[in-house]
Amino acid sequence: MSQSSPLALRGITKQFGAVAAIERFDLEIEAGEIVALVGDNGAGKSTLVKIISGLYQPSSGEIVLNGKPVNFRDASDARAHGVEVVYQDLALVDQQPVYMNMFLGRELVKGPLRTLDRARMAQETQALVTELDVRIPSPRAQLSDLSGGQRQGIAIARATHWASGLVLMDEPTAALGVAETAKVEETILRLKERGAAVLVVSHNLEQVYRIADRVVVLRRGKQIGTRSLADVEKNELVGMITGLVQ
Ligand SMILES: Nc1ncnc2c1ncn2[C@@H]1O[C@H](COP(=O)(O)OP(=O)(O)O)[C@@H](O)[C@H]1O
Ligand SMILES: [Mg+2]
Repeated sequence: MSQSSPLALRGITKQFGAVAAIERFDLEIEAGEIVALVGDNGAGKSTLVKIISGLYQPSSGEIVLNGKPVNFRDASDARAHGVEVVYQDLALVDQQPVYMNMFLGRELVKGPLRTLDRARMAQETQALVTELDVRIPSPRAQLSDLSGGQRQGIAIARATHWASGLVLMDEPTAALGVAETAKVEETILRLKERGAAVLVVSHNLEQVYRIADRVVVLRRGKQIGTRSLADVEKNELVGMITGLVQ
């Protein structure tokens, strides 16, 4: 008996009026697998991520998490089911320490007065950033004192901490420089080692080859193809993305 995969999408379609942003999209992601989602602007990548993360409801089709069909009311419902998303524009709070960002909205409390358990949050944050090798000065550092790469590392660590096996990323390195991107890619590969299923939207085909196992190409809402990166040449991928024969 094979175990059910962390994520299966079956016939996902999303209409915005006359526009089909996504048409009959199918994908299954295994634990420990990184799948890249590529396509030109407007291809439907973000729409798909928003559907899986509960921000949009699909017009039709089915989302199956660990073998169970789900219908998310909204993003917090998806989060409650263990779906976490990392965006390029970080949903982090600058004027708070790293550990508060890690527990944003889900702070640990202690005692009858339910005061913030800062020590435990800092401790758990330290354990997580150590495991993912996100190098920060201290879990108690102010977020605004970190570099862009360190901040994205924190966003990924947070998603990993709360995810139950599935992490979505929409252009996680789009705002970063080369060295910071390399560090964030290492962090993404650590998620794979931990057995997470990762769906990552990327514009950068070099990055896709560096981190992903498979790639899905979207063009104007249509799923053009799904390939193992071991079996596909870059020029073929470019042709699938653009619709032009190379
Ligand atoms: N909330 C929305 N309302 C209407 N149209 C939308 C909405 N979100 C996305 N679209 C349309 O859906 C298509 C796919 O957009 P999007 O998923 O953002 O593409 P990508 O992330 O690949 O650049 C585009 O034609 C876009 O204009
Ligand atoms: Mg997008």
